[in-house]
Amino acid sequence: MTTPTPIDFKATDIEQIASAKGRVAVIVTPDGKMDVGARRANRLTKGALARMIESGAIARMKPGEVVSLAWPAGMMAEALDVVCLERNAKTDELRRAGVALGKVKGEAELLVLAGPVRQPSEMMLGIMLRAYEFTAHKTDEAKPMGAVTMMVAKPDEIDAGAARAVAEGVFFTRDLVSEPANHLTTTEFATRISAMKKLGLKVQVLDEPELKKLGMGALLSVGHGSASPSKVAIMEWQGGDKGTAPLALVGKGVVFDTGGISLKPAAGMEEMTMDMGGAGVVAGVMRTLALRRARANVVGIVGLVENMPSDRATRPGDVVTSMKGDTIEVINTDAEGRLVLADILWYAQEKFKPAAMIDLATLTGAVIIALGHENAGVFANDDVFCRKFLKAAEAEGEGAWRLPLGDAYDKKIKSRIADMQNVGGRPAGSITAAQFLQRYVREDTPWMHLDIAGVALIKEDSAYAPKGATGWGVMALNRLVADQFEVS
Ligand code: BES
Ligand code: MN
Ligand code: ZN
Repeated sequence: MTTPTPIDFKATDIEQIASAKGRVAVIVTPDGKMDVGARRANRLTKGALARMIESGAIARMKPGEVVSLAWPAGMMAEALDVVCLERNAKTDELRRAGVALGKVKGEAELLVLAGPVRQPSEMMLGIMLRAYEFTAHKTDEAKPMGAVTMMVAKPDEIDAGAARAVAEGVFFTRDLVSEPANHLTTTEFATRISAMKKLGLKVQVLDEPELKKLGMGALLSVGHGSASPSKVAIMEWQGGDKGTAPLALVGKGVVFDTGGISLKPAAGMEEMTMDMGGAGVVAGVMRTLALRRARANVVGIVGLVENMPSDRATRPGDVVTSMKGDTIEVINTDAEGRLVLADILWYAQEKFKPAAMIDLATLTGAVIIALGHENAGVFANDDVFCRKFLKAAEAEGEGAWRLPLGDAYDKKIKSRIADMQNVGGRPAGSITAAQFLQRYVREDTPWMHLDIAGVALIKEDSAYAPKGATGWGVMALNRLVADQFEVS
């Protein structure tokens, strides 16, 4: 498992600036004010920072931006990183400053003179989130990530635990999403989830015979062609009042999606190792909640299957029966995520009577056409619940955009021979997929569906992550739990 760079908080000691190895970061405000740390660095470099300020270079920087001076004279460090930040910088500026430092840092040690920062743990989170690398399959020994020290006025008063819990949850998700399918089999995924028992989570894994007994014919039809057994893993965090209905988080965990008999084209198919992204986010959020001992009841349920073609695989035209008891004509075996979710959404409501339910899935390519890689598609049957989530996502800098539901879309999944079919044609492909899911949601359950196909894995650097798996959603959902579901 990739662990976040350890970050130490120490009392400010400007005598260490001259002799610090690696990199030293100091803060200058946009109007050119320096704190004691910056002033000392300025003196050591014979006025380099003052000259920067006079030249207008600082005024031209955006809050949270970093400019690096290489091999500064008068210091032992390899670089002096000048961070532009207001005295009362907002959370996202602090995180962005951290991200910028995490990006230039590389493997070097880093000393941050964070005296003027009001919430140093937010800056710390930014550094941690950006300094991520998935090295599990590089044979060269991973170079150790240089330690980070943040110097502040009162190190004892800093609560870094919650921010670290967030970084660990995000890293857990990113590792799962990055892991190739020959390593992250359904069994291995369930094993990694079970290992979270030691954090105080209650974990249960249902195997194929149990799923059959529950009547999960839709989910089982997806994994039928694979040598890896289908599983459902259930994680319970009971940090709230006893008897309070939980929030249910439900995730699509297709460890690899070939498309099945409706086989996908070869180009880009390797990306389908990320088709368990929804389950990855659910597992990451549960990890964060357990690590920070959230005072809320939350249950995470993930469907772990592999969509493979074989002589046992489901055929186009097959009709399967869901746990709810209705029948589905499988027109296209590549529209498999909704079949998995149908059964675990129903199970979540039957078993836990949740106060609210959110599912996450890399469900449709169409959502990438609609929203690109900037926003996840959000669908909801409850305006108030939806607004709360969008607010949490915005506060965490995770893009999310609501799309509509409606009867006219639902009509598109009518089947000639069964109760419904699993595809609704090319137009509004993400919406007809969401309509399919809504058939498995009781009217009185506040529900949201997050289509994360465009945001789970990105080929370019994003706000908080280097290119690759982002961990999108862990922070927004963690905040939603904190703001809406925790007892005080
Ligand atoms: N896992 C895919 C969706 C996907 C596409 C995720 C690209 C990430 C990147 C999903 O199972 C799928 O294949 N959906 C089909 C649905 C279609 C057959 C109705 C799609 O989007 O093409
Ligand atoms: Mn598919
Ligand atoms: Zn899929």
